Amino acid sequence: MDYFNKLKIKLKKRKLTVCIIGVGYVGQAIIKKILSKNIRVIALDRNIGKIKKIVKFKKVFYTNNYKYIGKADVIVICLPTPLKKNKTPDLSHLKAAVKSMKNFVKKGQMISLESTTYPGSTEELFIPLINQKRFKLSENFFLVYSPERISPELKIKDKNIKYNISNTPKLCAGYSKKCEILGKSFYKLVTKKVVMASSLKVAEASKMIENVFRSVNIALVNELKMFLDKIKINIHEVLNLAGTKPYGFTKFDPGPGYGGHCIPLDPYYLYWLAKKNKFDLKFVKTSGEINRNISFWITSKIFNFIKNRKIKLVKKKILILGVAYKKNIDDTRESPAFKISENIIRQGYDIEYSDPYIKTIKVSGKIKRSKKITKHLLKKFKVIIIVTDHDKFDYKLIKDSAKYLFDCRNSIKGRKKDYFSI
Ligand SMILES: NC(=O)c1ccc[n+]([C@@H]2O[C@H](COP(=O)([O-])OP(=O)(O)OC[C@H]3O[C@@H](n4cnc5c(N)ncnc54)[C@H](O)[C@@H]3O)[C@@H](O)[C@H]2O)c1
Repeated sequence: MDYFNKLKIKLKKRKLTVCIIGVGYVGQAIIKKILSKNIRVIALDRNIGKIKKIVKFKKVFYTNNYKYIGKADVIVICLPTPLKKNKTPDLSHLKAAVKSMKNFVKKGQMISLESTTYPGSTEELFIPLINQKRFKLSENFFLVYSPERISPELKIKDKNIKYNISNTPKLCAGYSKKCEILGKSFYKLVTKKVVMASSLKVAEASKMIENVFRSVNIALVNELKMFLDKIKINIHEVLNLAGTKPYGFTKFDPGPGYGGHCIPLDPYYLYWLAKKNKFDLKFVKTSGEINRNISFWITSKIFNFIKNRKIKLVKKKILILGVAYKKNIDDTRESPAFKISENIIRQGYDIEYSDPYIKTIKVSGKIKRSKKITKHLLKKFKVIIIVTDHDKFDYKLIKDSAKYLFDCRNSIKGRKKDYFSI
């Protein structure tokens, strides 16, 4: 039997071994899903000591040794794709992995790349490896790209739906028809709906555009927020009104800035590619600038709030509520709370914080511990800033007890005195 049919049957019978390279946020979610289908899993991470301490999946073979990829039928790559300091794509993790894989990949395997990256990367990274090995792509080796869409957000507001890997359609593309068939068959094991793209590049571009769309729209409401604030119009009311139009309008909520490891980074991958092709993606560039600068604008509004009301802070300290980059999650990556805190500290003030999901943070070189919200605490700090609006916060207590309240999320209802919502 040929390699294609062998793998096809293994997938059909679910009798296969999957190696996940990169056992971080994405890798762990996929492992969990694959395990639920009783499929053998090899978890490969360069930092496997740390991973083993935090991830306790039974029946998984953990390793940092690339020789074990030889035991897998399918290799799923979930490695980080950060930015270099100059905001250009940093594919070093992927390139290092390809190098380490070289001696151990074998005929009959399928590689699926899940990392977010610019169109063209999957081929650029893996075709030289396949050629070096003298494998015949689509005959005895298979290549797939399937971007990950997982989000730490648990529920989509209003619809009350919990999105996860199973119920979020998964994009997938193969290098050829045969790769496509195997890719689809694999992802059918982990998700209900697999949506096929006509090429690897199209699937890569599609993931980029999902994140560019968010970045541009977040920037748009943030820019409008700054302008409407200037002419004393409440953006939240405006957006709520516009949101009553049942078609043609998607509401984005303005906030203190964006965070996480996707939206602030990924658009620059496409920007870089456009530049390489002598095309200036103006929206992408401008949205990045607006979204980064919004934290400075918010900080200046905080200081105006303090100055205009002639507030005398106790020990020059401000209390921040919520430091995660969005509500109801324990993730602080690129959180605007840090930028705002650092700006405050740079002006000679200090902060304390409360976040039910985050026990400690390091800000401006100092370790801070989350404080439990009590009436006493809220009264102790003259100025309280809501940066992230976790559902776990007792908003009634905050509303009733805070002396001066600066709300970056429009989360307090029914208070006007000594309150500012932006
Ligand atoms: N986190 C998300 O919400 C999310 C959502 C969609 C897409 N993505 C994309 O998925 C990819 C992975 O993201 P993540 O958040 O899981 O990253 P992560 O940083 O949480 O995990 C990556 C893991 O890879 C390991 N690693 C790095 N280099 C390695 C190497 N050469 N060999 C073996 N292991 C190595 C690290 O030790 C780490 O455990 C990125 O491209 C990201 O943009 C992430």
